[in-house]
Amino acid sequence: MHQPVVGFSKFSKEDKIDWVAQNYTKDPKNAKILLERYWNSDSKVQKVHDEFIENTLSNYYLPFAVAPNFLIDGNLHVLPMVIEESSVVAAAGKAAKFWLDRGGFKTTIVGTEKVGQVHFFYTGQKEKLQSFFLDIKNELIENVSDITQSMRKRGGGISSIELRDKTGELANYYQLHCTFETLDAMGANFINSCLEEFAKTLERQAAAQGIEIEVTMSILSNYVPNCLVRAEASCSMEQLNIDGVSGQEFSKKFINAIAIAKSDPHRAVTHNKGVMNGVDALVLATGNDFRAVEAGVHAYASKDGSYSSLTHAEIRGDQFRFWIELPLALGTVGGLTSLHPMVKLALEILQKPSAEQLMRIVAVAGLAQNFAALRSLVTTGIQKGHMKMHLMNLLNQMGASELEKKELITYFKDKTVNNAAVKEALQNIKKG
Ligand code: MEV
Repeated sequence: MHQPVVGFSKFSKEDKIDWVAQNYTKDPKNAKILLERYWNSDSKVQKVHDEFIENTLSNYYLPFAVAPNFLIDGNLHVLPMVIEESSVVAAAGKAAKFWLDRGGFKTTIVGTEKVGQVHFFYTGQKEKLQSFFLDIKNELIENVSDITQSMRKRGGGISSIELRDKTGELANYYQLHCTFETLDAMGANFINSCLEEFAKTLERQAAAQGIEIEVTMSILSNYVPNCLVRAEASCSMEQLNIDGVSGQEFSKKFINAIAIAKSDPHRAVTHNKGVMNGVDALVLATGNDFRAVEAGVHAYASKDGSYSSLTHAEIRGDQFRFWIELPLALGTVGGLTSLHPMVKLALEILQKPSAEQLMRIVAVAGLAQNFAALRSLVTTGIQKGHMKMHLMNLLNQMGASELEKKELITYFKDKTVNNAAVKEALQNIKKG
């Protein structure tokens, strides 16, 4: 029977490890060794990681890879990707190479607006609230001038503050719906600091004027449909003659695959999951908030009332066009960007992009990943490539030696990979 622990966060790191190992693992000695083995040998680097969060015991590794040959708006990029799924980076590289030979990707920043809201309740007359809001609007902005000073100097800051009547959705519910320009920062701390100050001004002025307002909370929104980037790729039908399939046939199947994702949420979720394979890998590598991006992107995928495909394709005359629009609130300064050594390196590999440039690159990664997935799905099927990449995982799970791995990778070059087949082939080698 486990007992609650008191004051755990105050334990030393060693004591925390001991406590977890002793109380929650079968083999405490091995658990302790494992947790300590994953420490960084450079104590300075380890300290940086220890201090990101509370109760750090160890580090958790994910592969850091690169996908080269991404031609984006005329410039060649190498994309750093952090992901565990075996086929994702290979697929990205393949899609990059495909579009490199066909003019690459083009991108457009549609908007960079971030959002934050003060949520409150008010039961009085709407007109009174509206005129009160107009009276205090300037003061709301003035009272955050210290917070916004440096952002304003660089051309950013508060873009708008609007009183929104939400009483149609929820009784007596109103918002200050605020928009911001946060330049190269993701802006969460900046926005939240402004919002909490807005709420204080709102409450103070309401109390002074005898208006009964109850503020519930102040927080940024991770739904940023106006912080939007478009990425696209296009080529002639002739250039789509691939994998032994004609451009006509390939594009028809490809467009049908997207039409299916537009009409069926079950398929759309998987379709978009493939997009997010590329998006998340870059978002993680660059130290951005993948939960925020995921939540915002999926909300965007539902913006027309039902969950749908994030990508689109069409044929116009002889041209095949394939595109994506993604809401992405990303930062290339602040947050982990100057703290995590691998994040710094990832940004350097990307040539120190601005937040807008990173939006473009991430959207391309998502589009490329979707292209690779659909290309396989409508031609050879996904398992051929997937299982080839997964072969190494299977061999490692089965305890194959380096020599056996080498032999079996060659053996499976022209054969279908599956668990049973790999097991049998390995047993045959072992039998000699
Ligand atoms: C697997 O990680 C992603 C795919 O399922 C995406 C898709 O089906 O489009 C291959």
